[in-house]
Amino acid sequence: METLTVETRPIAGQKPGTSGLRKKTTLFMSRHYLENFIQSTFDAIGGVAGKCLVLGGDGRYFNDRAAQVILRMAAANGAARVIIGQGAILSTPAASHLIRLNGADGGIILSASHNPGGRDGDFGVKFNMANGGPAPEAVTAAIHARTEEITSYRILGAGDADLMRIGPQMLGKMEVLVVDPVADYAALMERLFDFPKMRALFAGGFRMRFDAMCAVTGPYAAEILENRLGAAPGTVAHGAPLPDFGGMHPDPNPTWAHELMAEMMGPSAPDFGAASDGDGDRNMVVGRGIYVSPSDSLAVLAANAHLAPGYRAGLKGVARSMPTSAAADRVAARLGIASYETPTGWKFFGTLLDAGRATLCGEESFGTGSDHVREKDGLWAVLLWLNILAERKETVREIMEAHWSAFGRNYYSRHDYEALPADLGAAVMDDLRARLPGLPGQVVEGMRVETADDFSYVDPVDGSASAGQGLRVVFAGGSRLVLRLSGTGTEGATLRLYLERYVAGPEGLDQDVQEALAPLIRAAETLAAIRARSGRTGPDVIT
Ligand code: G1P
Ligand code: ZN
Repeated sequence: METLTVETRPIAGQKPGTSGLRKKTTLFMSRHYLENFIQSTFDAIGGVAGKCLVLGGDGRYFNDRAAQVILRMAAANGAARVIIGQGAILSTPAASHLIRLNGADGGIILSASHNPGGRDGDFGVKFNMANGGPAPEAVTAAIHARTEEITSYRILGAGDADLMRIGPQMLGKMEVLVVDPVADYAALMERLFDFPKMRALFAGGFRMRFDAMCAVTGPYAAEILENRLGAAPGTVAHGAPLPDFGGMHPDPNPTWAHELMAEMMGPSAPDFGAASDGDGDRNMVVGRGIYVSPSDSLAVLAANAHLAPGYRAGLKGVARSMPTSAAADRVAARLGIASYETPTGWKFFGTLLDAGRATLCGEESFGTGSDHVREKDGLWAVLLWLNILAERKETVREIMEAHWSAFGRNYYSRHDYEALPADLGAAVMDDLRARLPGLPGQVVEGMRVETADDFSYVDPVDGSASAGQGLRVVFAGGSRLVLRLSGTGTEGATLRLYLERYVAGPEGLDQDVQEALAPLIRAAETLAAIRARSGRTGPDVIT
């Protein structure tokens, strides 16, 4: 087998966003596109000679072909070993775990997360570091810089590896180790949670629906929930991963997981519902007749984590992204532990987890996780909820209501305006940014602005700084608006408007969320005029 050096030229736009490089699948399939990005990644991390990498993806269209190319490129670049999930399948949290478990030097995850898949959908590539977490900005910037100067890439002239055969095989001088994608991950979950107690819960007639949305978590959920915990067969819906996710949009939120929502709000709803996204790192949790917002979920998990064996010693701290509601901060304050507010994106949690400053992390975008891996982990969050339900023997509604009466309620919602013209998105941001210095003291929709800024962050562990992370307008009493541009979209600009209002209780804890936030929704339009300027009548997605 010979190593080929293929001449190429830089391809514009290979700049990783909030979570790796995400583009249209057909663009990724175009000549040299994937190869340029992979070679640039290898170069940016100082080469892969002698190194061990983990590789896998969410099974979307082009996942298998891309994996074969990456294997041949890793071999040609001198990698010693690649550990890959059978069929090139690995959920994002399972990949993170395998990197850590095997002491690998890093990993490549093939996914565009919750973005639709298929030939006409999206594809993505993300590099994770030896700690199992997404590459920090310095590394993604180095990868991007390299894509702008690349002149050639190296690839082995070889056929396909047999990715269905578990065990080791050689590709040139490199070992390819094909592993069961589920086994190590399931063992980790079994260590963190009280499986006998959860089994007893199901044995007692507890009913659950898990919607895998035809994406990667199906096999993980079926093994853990049905086989190991004894949930009724059929608990996992849409459990077979499909290259186009069966045409579903695998984003676990009330809009896209509408089948689950309808069931959970219906007359014969099971006790507990959950869904996960394309690559298995997101989760949505629903009780019978009650939706749990991700911000609230993080707070409830923080308040109750000690009920699960893996967290019995208590939490070191809780971290949340800036746009996530402050509900978790209130729990941290009560527990006497640190809380952190980071920019959007899981990569900002890594240093806090590595340094032992935070145990739980979460984002309003249906991401929750802990220091067991360095990615958010959808199924983990669902299992922690199940463990808590098994211990407390209360319904989800009872747990939520008790939480709000103990801590008050942070009403919260995110309004997304998708696929706006890119210049309009930028102009809305620029105009509001320009107004920020004049806002404090002004009264908008009856609320006095206390502070207004463009969020910037200095990592307390490594001192790295990130500016321009979202515009914040905070009103007296803690209500706030946040506006930022999405860094994961592949079409035009997506504006995300985050709305939050705190009600201490005991009155007013059971309002309709959008009604409770109505003054903030009006204030946002007064300040940023997204509807007026875009001609849209409202957001495309409300979560
Ligand atoms: C979105 C979410 C963010 C999450 C990211 C990756 O990024 O808002 O919280 O970390 O996806 O799952 P955005 O499109 O807002 O940049
Ligand atoms: Zn995801």
